[in-house]
Amino acid sequence: MSQLSNEEIFNLIHLAMDFKSGKIRSNNSDKFAMNLFFEDSTRTNTSFQVAEAKLGMKQIDFDARHSSVNKGESLYDTIKTVESMGVNLAVIRHKQDKFYEELLGKNLKIHLINAGDGTGQHPSQSLLDLMTIYERFGYFEGLKVGIIGDLKHSRVAHSDAEALTNLGAEVNFGGLKEWYSDEFKAIGPHMNVDELCQEMDIVMLLRVQHERLADNENKEFSKESYFKEFGIDMRRVEMMKADTMIMHPAPINRGVEIADDVVECNKSYIFKQMENGVYMRMAMIETLLGVKQFDNDPDQEREFVLR
Ligand code: CP
Repeated sequence: MSQLSNEEIFNLIHLAMDFKSGKIRSNNSDKFAMNLFFEDSTRTNTSFQVAEAKLGMKQIDFDARHSSVNKGESLYDTIKTVESMGVNLAVIRHKQDKFYEELLGKNLKIHLINAGDGTGQHPSQSLLDLMTIYERFGYFEGLKVGIIGDLKHSRVAHSDAEALTNLGAEVNFGGLKEWYSDEFKAIGPHMNVDELCQEMDIVMLLRVQHERLADNENKEFSKESYFKEFGIDMRRVEMMKADTMIMHPAPINRGVEIADDVVECNKSYIFKQMENGVYMRMAMIETLLGVKQFDNDPDQEREFVLR
């Protein structure tokens, strides 16, 4: 996200909204996409598949569990291999932070999208979050955002906190103090969850990432006490302002950071985020490699800064 200017972010949001409204369409039927997921995913993987299909792209299967990576092939050699066969776009999720550093500055022409690196960044999630916020409020400047949960292990927290701050929102944090590291201290204060619920325009919840916690942290973790202190239930929803949005990148842990009846309550945008994710991913792919066609004015062309 740190490579994107605010102008580029707005271009992506507007393009995604144009795809969503049907104002523009695109045909990339001569392009090949491969989604390389070295870490589990439901939303991001499926969303990129739907986005690629809507853009008319041909999708080439890749099964990380049965690839030659398991014989010691490097990520670079894997990507160079599929590029040489004509794949135009590689969407990569990897458990290693900054996996992409192995690929940058190398002899590659293929387009790359980071679909989440370890505990680093999750740019497509961040961009769909920004689209969902912009669609609801129409601006970012001055919005109060509270990010509550496992900040330490969340790539979404890193990406969203950085992007929202750059766009003029005021970002605050909640959850276990141990997860509130110097990186977040430099961005905004830590507040208790009741205060965040009363004051924020956007309450963004994060899952406790048990798979990234140490064994002793998992042993000491109590769902009940976490939910009581940091979880959002209807009592806390009722403390919120009338137009507060509740967001969560999902997967959600019901009864840990969010109560069952909050997941689909009228303040929840969780499934809207998933819906918008398809259009934002279309916008990302289109910006990298597409040819846009405008329904109303076929000769119209737009300049997109991101290449
Ligand atoms: N939000 C998100 O990244 O979900 P997945 O891990 O299911 O892709």
